[in-house]
Amino acid sequence: MQKPRIDSRRARESFPAGVRRLKVGPNPDLCLDPAMTLPIDFPHISRPHLLQLLRDAPKAELHIHIEGSLEPELIFELARRNGVALPYASVDALRQAYAFTNLQSFLDVYYAGASVLITEDDFDAMAWAYFRRAAHDNVVHTEIFFDPQTHTARGIDMGVVIRGLDRAARRAESELGLSVRLILCFLRHLSEDDALATLAAAMPYRDRFIGVGLDSSEMGHPPGKFERVFARAREAGLHLVAHAGEEGPPAYIRAALDVLKVQRIDHGVRCVEDPELVARLARERMPLTVCPLSNVKLRVFDGLDRHNIPALLAAGLCVTVNSDDPAYFGGYVNDNFVQLFESLPQLTARDAYALLRNSFDAAFVDDEDKALWTEELDSVFAAHEP
Ligand code: HPA
Ligand code: ZN
Repeated sequence: MQKPRIDSRRARESFPAGVRRLKVGPNPDLCLDPAMTLPIDFPHISRPHLLQLLRDAPKAELHIHIEGSLEPELIFELARRNGVALPYASVDALRQAYAFTNLQSFLDVYYAGASVLITEDDFDAMAWAYFRRAAHDNVVHTEIFFDPQTHTARGIDMGVVIRGLDRAARRAESELGLSVRLILCFLRHLSEDDALATLAAAMPYRDRFIGVGLDSSEMGHPPGKFERVFARAREAGLHLVAHAGEEGPPAYIRAALDVLKVQRIDHGVRCVEDPELVARLARERMPLTVCPLSNVKLRVFDGLDRHNIPALLAAGLCVTVNSDDPAYFGGYVNDNFVQLFESLPQLTARDAYALLRNSFDAAFVDDEDKALWTEELDSVFAAHEP
């Protein structure tokens, strides 16, 4: 299961003659060595070409809450089917509620939307809709977050959630050629004991998810609150990630690294307030899964043109671009890429390549898969040269 769709032979054949190929395989220096020479003629890629390249390029999505992919139309369809009353009269009324002032104002609406998910088929339908949309954006690998406590607290069985998502994931792999992994997130506004019980309830399905994460209201819920449950997940061989430095201070990023021992930071944009932390993130090549449209919708930045991605890249950080909650924040991953580059003319073709390449380097997959996708990425960039 979970094989990438890239055919390495086809990727090799599609590489234009005369263009020197990049060394394949993950390059641990990519984020650290901005002067690295690449055979792609980055300066001559025009802006319109670059936007099309961003759409066409294969990419991994590493920060997507599957409940945040639930579009209003599907929310209303599931509510009708399941007899769930919604506090919104119509799809339009629900959409009008998507005017957020901060993370909490979004989470209130997001948890209300997730309340329509009852059966295995509902979880399958939600995930399948996202996978189709992701494949349309040339996502070849996706690591989806899911929030079991949002559902188990309503009496939904853990098995219903995981089996439904897993069924859609296997279908996406066989019908769309999409590589899918699941990451179970703990809600940080709840207790660590609740998280421990959640992990225990999920262990019968250990082979269906690859890691654990930490999401929901950040302020007042520092990573240290979840030290024991992350230690237990680590003992179980699970990958570890955590939201930190979205609304919370740099100290939360440090705690996620030092106490939880995470392998990626979700968001992390507030690291810039702590230059020593930035230096450490660069040195350790710690990936940041950044979500530009989310950051604007939740008022972390005043506009995409004020986003700090250029500064993060200039500092040598391993930044990736992701959609977070695409149904709520106005766009899927390609919308995030394209709108970001439209808003920030200082971002170059080389930056585009680095962001895409980082998505594979930071993924929880083996080196062989990374090499195949990197090869495909290179051939798409090379084919777009003028
Ligand atoms: N931040 C924290 N928790 C979340 C988010 C987010 O952007 N989306 C869904 N849960
Ligand atoms: Zn998130």
